Amino acid sequence: MNPAEIRLGVNVDHVATLRNARGGTHPDPLTAARLALVSGADSITVHLREDRRHIRDADVRAMRDALAAPLNLEMAATMDMLAFATEIRPQAACLVPERRAELTTEGGLDAAGLATQLAPVIAGLRAVGTRVSLFLDPEPRQIAIAERLGAGAVELHTGTYCAALPGANRDQERRRLIEGVHQVTMQGLECHAGHGLDYETAAEMAAVAGIVELNIGHFLVGQAIFDSLGASVARMKQIMRDARRNAA
Ligand code: PXP
Repeated sequence: MNPAEIRLGVNVDHVATLRNARGGTHPDPLTAARLALVSGADSITVHLREDRRHIRDADVRAMRDALAAPLNLEMAATMDMLAFATEIRPQAACLVPERRAELTTEGGLDAAGLATQLAPVIAGLRAVGTRVSLFLDPEPRQIAIAERLGAGAVELHTGTYCAALPGANRDQERRRLIEGVHQVTMQGLECHAGHGLDYETAAEMAAVAGIVELNIGHFLVGQAIFDSLGASVARMKQIMRDARRNAA
């Protein structure tokens, strides 16, 4: 890949969160994925959680069938998820830690501590042609094991950096990430980053040479409200006015 280019993976989980709040079909994550792709996204990311709180099995199947672009399946390193993933054969999978009670993925994977659990899952995914990344905090001990485990990429967890207030703390976290990027690329692995990114932090991360992909979800889905609520309200008002006039 041209070092001047960087990929954007759009995570559509929270379109499903909104859909599920009413139990219906609107807004549809597949339609959102298509819109993201025609708008410049390079791939679509979904996290199929154990409790299926947002994306569901049927969403992943539909996206795998309908989208021409790569699908990146975020998943826990369990045998159940491996069975699903090897049936779906997404182009990419990102192994993430998962705790039932958490609001979102709270930290990176303990790749060093869980090596024996991760190895067969990574091997199983690779056997069906899925490129595997590990979601890791920028900790040298964790990154060091990624290549030995057979991962093709590391996604660095940017959550702590994004949550830090601009200033000394955020600068320190950014430096930690830059060192992590260096370590990942020195191993010959692709370096991705994601979690909590917004316009400002994504710009800072995109400026770091070595990062080839950013995965962004919550901010984009939230920002869509501010970018488009005005347009949908105006259209609704117009539809109401027209209907009343036509009925008169
Ligand atoms: N990357 C990984 C591995 C994640 O688990 C998530 C959250 O599902 C994201 C990126 C996207 O994070 P956010 O929704 O905060 O942009």
